[in-house]
Amino acid sequence: MAETPPINYGIALVGSGSATPKQRLTNDQLGLRVDTSDSWISSRTGIHSRRVIGSGETLTGLSVRAAQGATTFARWDPESIDLVILATSTPDDLFGSAPQIQAELGAKNAVAFDLTAACSGFLFALVTASQFLRNGSMRRAIVIGADQLTRWVNWDDRRSCVLFGDGAGAIALEATDINHDGVIAFSLKSDGSRGDCLNLPNVQNFQPLVEGLVHQTGGFLPIQMNGQEVYKFAVREVPSILEDLLSGSNVAPETLDWLLLHQANQRILDAVADRFSIPKTKVLSNLANYGNTSAATIPLMLDEAVQDGRIKRGDLIATSGFGAGLSWGAALLRWQGPI
Ligand code: UT7
Repeated sequence: MAETPPINYGIALVGSGSATPKQRLTNDQLGLRVDTSDSWISSRTGIHSRRVIGSGETLTGLSVRAAQGATTFARWDPESIDLVILATSTPDDLFGSAPQIQAELGAKNAVAFDLTAACSGFLFALVTASQFLRNGSMRRAIVIGADQLTRWVNWDDRRSCVLFGDGAGAIALEATDINHDGVIAFSLKSDGSRGDCLNLPNVQNFQPLVEGLVHQTGGFLPIQMNGQEVYKFAVREVPSILEDLLSGSNVAPETLDWLLLHQANQRILDAVADRFSIPKTKVLSNLANYGNTSAATIPLMLDEAVQDGRIKRGDLIATSGFGAGLSWGAALLRWQGPI
């Protein structure tokens, strides 16, 4: 008996959206809090300011706005959405914030869940969502990357507090003809043996429970980061994974329209671009205005470049995320826009 061929759909990137908090914190303002300066931060990172969630705003609220933007862009009825994934390490609810977003979006037929992979989270979530679409079990997905790391930063540690900001970005993915596939290739990696370079650990505080037993109290320490180790990890692993992805897909670097990296440090973006001789004009960067928004950086940057017309229908994008875990990944994407 002949085997039934596997169902294999293409995945189109059909919409994008984003949202950032109102409060803007400049390098000069940070200099009033810790011993730092605009010139140090600008020259070592490329960051000039970042956004910080203030009263009246929530990460869930930003995520809903980003998801609404992507849904409207794609010209979808929210009830036609099958899947909502929120990539975040900082949910408003540790049980998961995606169902709240699903409800506020009016995506009442969608299943919704959170996914955590720190700064690689958006890419991991995009690939996860694309599997449901690829095999035909779902048709429409919203993938959100959102983080509020300013909640977990030690604002007296100048080695880390200058880097981070808050934000949310989202994309809309639709199952389509395999000949119009926009998720061309991907590679995802983890190395927990190096996880202590960057983490946000549970605080080890035990209290008496009943006679002879203790229980742990909830709570986390602020972000712990060895900046130099993370920097070395990024400039070694990101070019390596991108090189494997491009050569495995027979794509020459010069044929890329855009390099869209996790926005951690301008020096990392420049080093990766140099490795592939990609001109600065093709390297997307907005970290000067937002700093490192963790899982949000890639969709936030993507949405900005789509909205201002830099990214056009059919453009080929190499993207890479990296960060705590340690985790990292890369994908080769083609932007489609509304079908
Ligand atoms: O999503 C991933 C998240 N993490 C990252 O992306 C981190 C990647 N790493 C980096 O971006 C860089 O390592 C940093 C920007 C964090 C630090 O830059 P660096 O060039 O590696 O600086 P450093 O840690 O080697 O520090 C150099 C000097 C030190 O002074 P001494 O010991 O040489 O006298 C630091 O104390 O700079 C000092 N320093 C600062 N000075 C002013 C460190 N932070 C600051 C600061 N302002 N904010």
